[in-house]
Amino acid sequence: MEWTPRSWEGLPCTQQPVYPDRAALERTLAEIGALPPLVTSYEIEALKSQLAEAARGERFILWGGDCAENFADCTSPAIAARLKILLQMSLVLVHGTRKRITRIGRFAGQYAKPRSAPTEMRDGVELPSFRGDNVNRPEFTLDARTPDPVLLLRGYERSALTLNFIRALVDGGFADLHHPENWDLDFVKHSPLATEYQRMVDAIGESLRFMETLAGGTIGAMQRVDFFTSHELLVLPYEAALTRRVPRREGWFNLSTHLPWVGLRTSDPGAAHVEFCRGIRNPVGVKVGPDTTPEQLLATIRTISPEAEPGRVVLVARCGAHRIGRTLPPLLRAVRDAKLPVVWIVDPMHGNTETVVPTSGAWAGKSVKTRKFAHILAEVEQAFEIHRMEGTVLAGVHVELTGEDVTECTGGARGLTDDDLSRAYRSQVDPRLNYEQALELAMLIARRAAGR
Ligand code: PEP
Ligand code: CO
Repeated sequence: MEWTPRSWEGLPCTQQPVYPDRAALERTLAEIGALPPLVTSYEIEALKSQLAEAARGERFILWGGDCAENFADCTSPAIAARLKILLQMSLVLVHGTRKRITRIGRFAGQYAKPRSAPTEMRDGVELPSFRGDNVNRPEFTLDARTPDPVLLLRGYERSALTLNFIRALVDGGFADLHHPENWDLDFVKHSPLATEYQRMVDAIGESLRFMETLAGGTIGAMQRVDFFTSHELLVLPYEAALTRRVPRREGWFNLSTHLPWVGLRTSDPGAAHVEFCRGIRNPVGVKVGPDTTPEQLLATIRTISPEAEPGRVVLVARCGAHRIGRTLPPLLRAVRDAKLPVVWIVDPMHGNTETVVPTSGAWAGKSVKTRKFAHILAEVEQAFEIHRMEGTVLAGVHVELTGEDVTECTGGARGLTDDDLSRAYRSQVDPRLNYEQALELAMLIARRAAGR
């Protein structure tokens, strides 16, 4: 079948909003289709080659951000806080792994969410489920829940605003090691980890000054780092509107983001989302779960990249700490024995979600979705170990985190308990690591890498 940005339309396609006014949808898509792209093919190709390096063990991928971005969080402090935590984690990882780090944000487009049911029932009233800020609105009214195509345009604009600010911060020296204020720990200052972190930053600063004394000038390359963007490839008409040919390069590029990924609920190799991925030149992520079979996985990889291009297929394993030991090894072996050059990433978040019922505090007696830090860490550690035993490479981690002081995941150096969850739980979707927990995870990964 010939591929076009809309050739998926004849295939089974789940998780799509139902727009009552198709003509309005097409008008908005045409408008988005005429606007400039959000990223360029040059950046996409650069990321793909970095991913290929990571798959060979020459780099490490740090991939993180919110489960879902909100339109309301498209603000200067929220964007800067997200960059800062990714930057600080990557510094810690460089120090521990002695590898270059590629930073990928779940941002500038991570608005749409898959849902377990297409509708939601409250007091006998049934309405479409809330699917994210670029699809509909969370209030439980028919008007709010009816998918509105204009929100796709609002999402495109916020993605552009976010990217614009990120690019300006990075170009303006936000990541410059000569600016210690950007490396400050803010409210994590009193954390048990702060001393170790500060020692690391000081040591890196020392080395930098030493090198500069030798070189007789400032080391300019230290001022620039790259941030790549990613989001779940979900609302296909939107993605198709930003999928284009570019001058002087072969093929089609999805210019809505550098690295789109296919979630677990849409990863059927015979269905629309995988078909869409087949025709774009971007690297594409595919979530791999505890029920993914080796046959299904091989079919997906071969569909997306029949030419077995290095860096193109990124497998994001999210099995859960209790299941990874059983599920991951047969998948690693199948892909290794088929000699398919994939990039293996561990997502220690989505297989470790659980519901708890706090016994005291504001949320006593209520069910709350959370994740335990110990389970997250255990899944990462097992992933390293399993890859070592199979002779494959763990190229990176994919985490849900925020640069803020939320209480959504329990455990970590400060020992958050179920009863702490009510204090600052802000996620409308999955529970995220807070600033301190995210940094701690990076330090533990780095420590493990350094000890090897
Ligand atoms: C996610 O990454 O937020 C997500 C929904 O993941 P998964 O498809 O792995 O459940
Ligand atoms: Co999530």
